[in-house]
Amino acid sequence: EKGGYEHFMLKEMYEQPKAITDTFSPRLKDGMIEIEELNMTEEEIKSIQKIMIVACGSAYHTGMTAKYVFEEMARIPVEVDVASEFRYRNPIITDNTLVMVISQSGETADTLAALREAKERGAKVLGVVNVVGSSIAREADGVMYTWAGPEIAVATTKAYSAQLIALYLLAMKMSQVRGTIDADQLTGMIEDLKSLPTQVEMLLENKKKIQKFANRYQAAEQIFFIGRGIDYAISQEGSLKLKEISYIHSEAYAAGELKHGTISLVEEGTLVVSVLTQEPLYKKMISNMEEVRTRGAFVMAVTVEGNLEAEKAADYVLYIPKTNEYFMNSLAIIPLQLFAYEIAVGRGCDVDKPRNLAKSVTVE
Ligand code: F6R
Repeated sequence: EKGGYEHFMLKEMYEQPKAITDTFSPRLKDGMIEIEELNMTEEEIKSIQKIMIVACGSAYHTGMTAKYVFEEMARIPVEVDVASEFRYRNPIITDNTLVMVISQSGETADTLAALREAKERGAKVLGVVNVVGSSIAREADGVMYTWAGPEIAVATTKAYSAQLIALYLLAMKMSQVRGTIDADQLTGMIEDLKSLPTQVEMLLENKKKIQKFANRYQAAEQIFFIGRGIDYAISQEGSLKLKEISYIHSEAYAAGELKHGTISLVEEGTLVVSVLTQEPLYKKMISNMEEVRTRGAFVMAVTVEGNLEAEKAADYVLYIPKTNEYFMNSLAIIPLQLFAYEIAVGRGCDVDKPRNLAKSVTVE
């Protein structure tokens, strides 16, 4: 059933090109984006004044990426909360608030409770869900399915990637309706979307190379991830993947925040994974990389092909190909998933069933 792969996680990582294609292709029609299940009129889309995204774990991380994308592309203010916080903080919801709940299983207890809370307060709730007919899919006002197929490994990979695509499509659709992007921009983005599956496939070919690098860090006590903007969101996902399956302590930091405390943990040889895919932020990131390097850190950079400046500030570089800046997370996550996987395998961990974790968290 693992189809020749050593672990479900590995199989599911390799299913990502398909999960991405299956999620976007039914929604592209004649160069336009159509999301039938959205259950919202153009008038309703235009009247949204605030989006609140609610989710847990990795789904929360896709929500963080979506915040940057929706705010920049559609100019809609977005708040992102973990479901267990949202539920108990008396959130301010008006008629024009759209609440988006993101969940692979569609059964996460806190996310489901947050959905009910939001509906009770009069919000329209849109579910971004992978499991068809799950509780969240049934109770939301509209559902956009991520067509990743069944995910078995506890650590999410392909559902995460499919969630990103669903969220990009929603942002593109809303931007188009609200007139914040023009037809040419939309066409360009659609072209870039269509290239993602092949680009992901190429990145998966780096497995051996990443394994070699990961071998050097099997005994690490702690590993840091830093990034800015969208790259901060992906850093959090990279860090979670690593800690949940390898049990190495890890933290992700907004790169500019390091020097407000956490940098004191950096010692000679500490690995700091630096993600820099956003050109306007390259310079700022490079200065943060230099900051930790001066304190003895070993800097591994994940950046875009052609960013030669990063090479000077890093000890090791993994490149991702160019795509639209909004879509960079879909590519940058691949080396981070492979890295977490290889470290965990190297340490002899039970990759598919990490200790203390369940695939579907149906208790609060
Ligand atoms: C991490 C992971 C979890 C889930 C979280 C939410 O790899 O899988 O953090 O993302 O438990 O689960 P769903 O998406 O089913 O609501």
